[in-house]
This record gives sequence, C-alpha cells and structure tokens, in this order.
Amino acid sequence: MKIMVITSSPNKEGLTESCGEAAKKGIEKGNGEAIMVRLNDLNILKCEACEQGWGICLKGNKCILEDDFEKVHEAMGEVDGFVVITPVYFHDMSESAKMFFDRLRRCEANLHFNREKVNITEKKPFICVAAAGGGGSGTLSCLTNMERLFFHLNKIDYSNLKKFDYIGVTQRNKEYMLDAIEASAFKMAKGE
Ligand SMILES: Cc1cc2nc3c(=O)[nH]c(=O)nc-3n(C[C@H](O)[C@H](O)[C@H](O)COP(=O)(O)O)c2cc1C
Repeated sequence: MKIMVITSSPNKEGLTESCGEAAKKGIEKGNGEAIMVRLNDLNILKCEACEQGWGICLKGNKCILEDDFEKVHEAMGEVDGFVVITPVYFHDMSESAKMFFDRLRRCEANLHFNREKVNITEKKPFICVAAAGGGGSGTLSCLTNMERLFFHLNKIDYSNLKKFDYIGVTQRNKEYMLDAIEASAFKMAKGE
C-alpha cells in the first residue's frame, strides 16, 4: 500500500516531524511505501476565492494558481491512504495545513459537476494526528476540524469516508503516543 504522510510544521526537528517519522516507520514495517510531503517546504499560495467565491475549482476540480498545489493534489490520487499531521496552533491546524486544505476541499467537494473525475480521498483510509504543546489544550478541536475537512473532501458521498484513526499527541504523552502512531500506520499499511 502506498500511503502519503503529510506534515505541516515549520520545525524540522519538532513533534510533528517525529510523528511523521513514526508513521513512516509503521508503514514500512507493514510493507507499505511512505510518500512523505512536507507542506512547509513547498510553495503553496493562499486561496484567492476567485470570482467572488468560486473559480474553476467548483466545476473543473483544480486550482488556477500556479504553485506546488496541483503537484500534491495529483499525487494524492496515486496513493491508497493518508496520514495527515499538523502542529496544534491556536486550537487549530497550522497555517500551512490550512492554506493547502482550504484549496483542496474546494477542488474535491463538488465533484458531482464532473463525475468522470474520481475523488482523491474516496474510500481511502486516513489517520489524523494533532501534535500539541505540553498541556494539549485545543488538541480535540484541532482533530474535530481535521475530521470536518475529510467530510468536506467527501461531501459528494459521506459513506465513502474511511476514518482510520484520530490521534492527539502532546509533548507530555509523546513517549507512548508516537508508538500509537506507528502501530496505527502499520495496521493501515497491512490493509487491516
Ligand atoms: C503560534 C502557536 C500556537 C500554538 N497553540 C497551541 C495550542 O493552542 N495548544 C497547544 O497545546 N499548543 C499550542 N502550541 C504549541 C505547539 O502545538 C507545540 O509546540 C507543537 O509541538 C508544535 O509542533 P512542532 O514541534 O512540530 O513545532 C502553539 C505553538 C505556536 C507556535
């Protein structure tokens, strides 16, 4: 199984990165292939909300902006599952995660206009990970927003959602929660 691990922290040696490494380890132990995507290394512009709200994202299911977005969007179609990891910022996802997923959901939420296109997350399992500070306040709301994001990505038919895991990691519990991420990614890669 090919699984994309999307991380979204500016910190190359932080908790988000450790969560990504744990997911990669689990995927590879399960004989899967981990496709690592660090959103902060890419040039992802903010959504322009073209034409007073909707641009070609509504019916064309792609974005008009020229940056690294479409490259990742297309690569998502080639994989069999996802692990999305964000640091918790202000009880929510990081800015780089928001910028990317705000645009992605616009492209994927209205596929009923373009049925020959297949939803890139449809029937594919996903794990959401929120990596927080010591106290962990806002971990739950961050995970709730991530869950909502996948609902929007599958708005055309919610029954196609394949929720696999929602994991909250904090600086305090990381010792054992990194093992939980590895175990979850392992199971996903095994197709269990
Ligand atoms: C702007 C900002 C906002 C943050 N907001 C929260 C928060 O709401 N709740 C929390 O538990 N930690 C918060 N933190 C702490 C980070 O979630 C924590 O340090 C996490 O490990 C960051 O990920 P990183 O290690 O990959 O950088 C915040 C950190 C920053 C920089």
